Amino acid sequence: MSVEPAALPEFCRNFQEYQRLLQQQCQTLEVPEPNDVAQEASFQLAQKIAQQVYFKGKIPYSEFMHHALYSPGLGYYSSGSYKLGAGGDFVTAPEISPMFGKTLAKVIMQAWQDTDACILELGAGSGKLMCDILLQLESEKNLPHTYYVLEVSAELRQRQKHLLNDICPHLKSKVVWLDTLPASFKGVIIGNEVVDAIPVELLMKTEEGVAQGFVACHDQGFTLVFEPTPFSQGWQKRHEDYVQHWPEGYLAESSDLRSDWLRSVLGSLEQGCILLLDYGFEAEELYSPYRPQGTLQCYYRQKKHSMPLALLGLQDVTSSVNFTQLAQTAIDTGAEILGFTPQAQFLTLSGIEQFVAQGQDSDTMSNLSVAQQLQTLLMPNEMGQNIKVLGLSKQFSGTLTGFQSLGLHQA
Ligand SMILES: C[S@@+](CC[C@H](N)C(=O)[O-])C[C@H]1O[C@@H](n2cnc3c(N)ncnc32)[C@H](O)[C@@H]1O
Repeated sequence: MSVEPAALPEFCRNFQEYQRLLQQQCQTLEVPEPNDVAQEASFQLAQKIAQQVYFKGKIPYSEFMHHALYSPGLGYYSSGSYKLGAGGDFVTAPEISPMFGKTLAKVIMQAWQDTDACILELGAGSGKLMCDILLQLESEKNLPHTYYVLEVSAELRQRQKHLLNDICPHLKSKVVWLDTLPASFKGVIIGNEVVDAIPVELLMKTEEGVAQGFVACHDQGFTLVFEPTPFSQGWQKRHEDYVQHWPEGYLAESSDLRSDWLRSVLGSLEQGCILLLDYGFEAEELYSPYRPQGTLQCYYRQKKHSMPLALLGLQDVTSSVNFTQLAQTAIDTGAEILGFTPQAQFLTLSGIEQFVAQGQDSDTMSNLSVAQQLQTLLMPNEMGQNIKVLGLSKQFSGTLTGFQSLGLHQA
């Protein structure tokens, strides 16, 4: 069912009007304006979302975020907007340094002592991590039986195939792209910065209690409104200890979709382990009264900001992971916690320093020196402390040296 264009608000009836809106957003954010093709795609996405809002009156923020990131052909990850490296929107660890993937290859080899020699990578981005891991495993004469990739974005899947073809065409036969999670997988599952890209709900503490963020339309653009919502008893129980300490106006995020996603990943793992690396905290720290603005972040051309409705389909939107919630989900499904530790400790204990001497990799998009790469991956004020590694397992008795202590307070 579609809506007559005349019924839509002014900003998505008229392309010039929408261009003016984008222009204003770029001025406010002090970023360069997107090109005409990108503006047109953003306009189409705005029309698509405005139709949903027209039918429903308002949509939960998570639905808006889902469209903004994954709407086929138009969302940030599905349209070619996703740009990495020096000229891109943000950088992830594999784009910073091949030392990251090489170290993970070593970790995977440790895990293979007690599971099948298979890998499943979730959300492979540009494909750089896949190539680094495969090349390291090849140099160790320990290639996997199969390297599976599950990627929701058709555009990124193509990019991953191209990169594999450019960097290691002789290893193409090792990689299989999946459309859905396998029914039964044995081996190692990895996901780097995937969970923080799964949509969240926005929350605000008001006089009446916790309100949920919805997206509505007015003539000048999308707008965020907070309304009281009957949260499930389970949700209330999980959050009551934190909510009572939040001052009025406190902003936060929560995501049942992330638990649902993890439950299906765990359902697919018959035996082996899962490594999730992401920006995030344990619940107590995430929902501390000292973090009143929440963790929702948007990235556009290396500019970090907090305007989640702006630059629709053209900017990345992420929010920190609640690792307590993920750990509890794993425990509830009968999985075990292998460990939880900051990235710096995990990479250091897994032997990242052995790769330092190998020098600069010409494929690294960041153009940083080896010392700078190491600093970004390990320093506490960069990825070292802000990114955590959560290890989960099923019927797995191996040990990973990266997890020396299990520091997670189980919920
Ligand atoms: C921030 S990027 C990280 C990419 C890559 N792992 C890296 O570290 O550079 C998030 C990735 O997760 C993918 N993604 C998001 N949700 C997913 C899901 N439910 N299943 C598989 N991939 C997903 C996105 O399309 C994208 O490739």
